[in-house]
Amino acid sequence: MPAMRPDQTPEGTAEHADTQPSAAQSELTAEHATHVAVIMDGNGRWAQARGKPRLFGHHAGAKRVKEIVRACPDLGVKYLTIFAFSTENWKRTQTEVSGLMSLFRRYIQSELKGLVAEGVRVRFIGDRPRLDKKLIALMDDLEEVTRENTKVHLTIAINYGGRDEVSRAIKEMARDVKTGVLDPETVDETTLTRYLDTRVLPDPDLVIRTSGEARISNFLLWQSAYSEYEFIDTLWPDFTSEVFADCMARFAHRDRRFGGVKS
Ligand code: FPP
Repeated sequence: MPAMRPDQTPEGTAEHADTQPSAAQSELTAEHATHVAVIMDGNGRWAQARGKPRLFGHHAGAKRVKEIVRACPDLGVKYLTIFAFSTENWKRTQTEVSGLMSLFRRYIQSELKGLVAEGVRVRFIGDRPRLDKKLIALMDDLEEVTRENTKVHLTIAINYGGRDEVSRAIKEMARDVKTGVLDPETVDETTLTRYLDTRVLPDPDLVIRTSGEARISNFLLWQSAYSEYEFIDTLWPDFTSEVFADCMARFAHRDRRFGGVKS
């Protein structure tokens, strides 16, 4: 995505500003999460437990994505952001990396196209240039063909890292300072937010990580400052819409204070 200049209106911001308050502006009591972000972990272990190669688990995980997207409207989730491949995942074996890339290509070509008809708007975040050209073209195309959809906003993070995203944003800001587009004296939290890949999205209300690991692994570092976290033991391929609904039910009892106190 090209970086937005401070004098530009970010695409989609009006829709988000009108209807989706940022986490810090939301009601103090969590009733339902408008934006849920998911670290889909555990595919490898799920496959190994069945004596299968890791990619078998990734394929099962990909199937689960569709079910979870479909469950969103009934659960009041308007924005779903999923972590599909991190800037650190290149360290995996060549077989696994190329298998995942080919899975993304096939997924975009087949299953996600069905979601187009269901009113799902798809966006991708992450550093695109390192990806294969064919995959980039498919990602661009899917964003384009779903741009009028509003039922669910699905954001897929591929070659995404929170630190990388902030570094790229700062680099773009520095370029704009150099060319006189941005006055450094005006820079505040909102300015940086407008240079991030996620600039058109509200902050996540809830971040779910499956598979029993309790860490955030460089996911939405800036955006999750006030997110609630749910670390659950379920492996991603077993994350059914019922498990999702249970997470949402627990979220409804969270006491969100955003650094304040309850009146
Ligand atoms: C982490 O599990 C999962 C990934 C690095 C890949 C996530 C990808 C998918 C769920 C598949 C496809 C998604 C789309 C959008 C098509 P892991 O492999 O680290 O599991 P482990 O910790 O058990 O080894």
